[in-house]
Amino acid sequence: MCGIFAYLNYCVPRTRKEIFETLVKGLQRLEYRGYDSAGIAVDGDKNTTTDGINNNNIVLIKKKGKVKALDEELYKKDCMDLEVELDTHFGMAHTRWATHGEPSALNSHPHRSDKNNEFVVIHNGIITNYKELKKYLEGAFALMFKSRYFPGEAVATRRGSPLLIGVRSKYELSAEHIPIQYNTAMFKEGVQEKNSHNRPDISNAVNSVEDGKAVEYYFASDASAIIEHTNKVIYLEDDDIAAVVGGKLSLHRLNRLAGEVPVRAIQTLQMELQEIMKGNFEAFMQKEIFEQPESVFNTMRGRICFDTNKVILGGLEDHLKEIKRCRRLIMIGCGTSFHAAVATRQVLEELTELPVMVELASDFLDRNTPVFRDDVCFYISQSGETADTLMALRYCKDRGALTVGVTNTVGSSISRDTDCGVHINAGPEIGVASTKAYTSQFVALIMFGLMMSEDRISLQTRRLEIINGLRILPELIKKVLTLDKNIKSIADELYEQRSLLVMGRGFNYATCLEGALKIKEIPYMHSEGILAGELKHGPLALIDKHMPVIMIIMRDACYTKCQNALQQVTARSGRPIILCCQDDPEVSKNAYKTIELPQTVDCLQGILSVIPLQLLSFHLAVLRGYDVDCPRNLAKSVTVE
Ligand code: F6R
Repeated sequence: MCGIFAYLNYCVPRTRKEIFETLVKGLQRLEYRGYDSAGIAVDGDKNTTTDGINNNNIVLIKKKGKVKALDEELYKKDCMDLEVELDTHFGMAHTRWATHGEPSALNSHPHRSDKNNEFVVIHNGIITNYKELKKYLEGAFALMFKSRYFPGEAVATRRGSPLLIGVRSKYELSAEHIPIQYNTAMFKEGVQEKNSHNRPDISNAVNSVEDGKAVEYYFASDASAIIEHTNKVIYLEDDDIAAVVGGKLSLHRLNRLAGEVPVRAIQTLQMELQEIMKGNFEAFMQKEIFEQPESVFNTMRGRICFDTNKVILGGLEDHLKEIKRCRRLIMIGCGTSFHAAVATRQVLEELTELPVMVELASDFLDRNTPVFRDDVCFYISQSGETADTLMALRYCKDRGALTVGVTNTVGSSISRDTDCGVHINAGPEIGVASTKAYTSQFVALIMFGLMMSEDRISLQTRRLEIINGLRILPELIKKVLTLDKNIKSIADELYEQRSLLVMGRGFNYATCLEGALKIKEIPYMHSEGILAGELKHGPLALIDKHMPVIMIIMRDACYTKCQNALQQVTARSGRPIILCCQDDPEVSKNAYKTIELPQTVDCLQGILSVIPLQLLSFHLAVLRGYDVDCPRNLAKSVTVE
């Protein structure tokens, strides 16, 4: 949801063209977060005046549309010498997902301050309290500042929206931590006098590189924009203020809070560049669907011992006793992450023998849901930054519940703010539609259930069945992916339809919800996930020979009930496309078409049955001529309410 990227080179000569390229590349890596307008701020040539947007030596170039449109615009500024070498320079860039104000060059960032045109600012987040803002600064933000009086210097801060800093130097970094300076005059209220440019106190800052040595800094909303330059990063916490002055990075806060660690670690990113490249695929979404045999394997890697049937999630081990004693488990998430909770609820109830509530984060907060000290609350989030989920986390923390993160993003707000957690290790997910994160969340939650039930004698047969199912799951996913051509041919038949219903029950109800969400968000078709048990309570009225229906009928405890639903659909001249297990003549004879899947353990079947729906969504979108990775009105990582 909006992406910030900024680049500071200190004593590292770079041509303006190279600086443009670095900024544009950074924005492209973040484009999945928003793509309706983009802009940059760089230093202009002395006395440059261009089209009226620019003056006072900082040039703003902003454009409605994708980053590509901005990129083209940059080279139209013939007053800016592209080959000029800038030894030290600070440039910043932004890609926007509009919340307040239409997508336009005017509304896109950076913005310039009125007074003296001194600052240009980039902001991520929504300042919901903009009216009170003038009285006292608060709200959700990640901010970057550049001043015309201090070229080559940068100031950044965040609260609620993520921001991290990459450091690259050919010299060894001289510290593993950056200390925080508290109470610096620069940030005290009221010390700012007219025209007195309060400077960050860097006198006792331990530098990340030695004095005067060449260094480059990259500021970004997310690690994927930084990894091609450096793997050394510092994650800013809420209310941290970072300043780069004279090539030195210093960190500041107003006051030290009780229990706060007074340093920020320089961390090493465990991410490979190729993980964020599209390779030979048409779209990131398609690549990520096809990555699922590996991503699911990586979720399990090193955590399941197939010889001893032991499951160890290291991040939960120390809290297991407390979790076992809890009153109930509350699973909280949004969108696809919520569906992962719905998908695993039944097996978690079975394996943990605890009540499991599943909650949409926004609704959970709207209801002021009662939460108690002996509750254990899970926050399921691919990005780890979703505002609603994060707010639900703070809400439960305040009420003393144990908080558990299930995220895909190391260093994200949810993984840092929870008491303990599991990284699903699916690898970076760039496509706006979540695919591989869903199947990995699914597997991670089941592994949690297996870990909880290790000492339950009565559950050992069931555990073994599930563990054996997990062992061969990557192979079964590969088999499902070979159905791609069949699914494309079904898409050929359906792509001009307006609506598509997806129906099922039991372990596959979540598959219906998730499949319908995919079909809404990428091909923009109306789609509903219908619980087959509810069919006769209303949705049956929609069924006729024109309404496309996908039914999920697997050989599980709901098989007979699903067949009843099938009869009800065919009796109304419906022509169901059925996702079923291989060799099921009983179901096939009533189907208009079938998609036959390998059979696995009932509680894992949803991992296989969602994949044809992911593929269908992809093909429908391509056939309808839409940009699969940039669905209209949506953005990955919804960091606003
Ligand atoms: C759908 C999708 C969204 C996200 C939701 C939560 O394809 O991607 O519904 O699942 O916005 O995001 P995370 O998981 O990052 O909290």
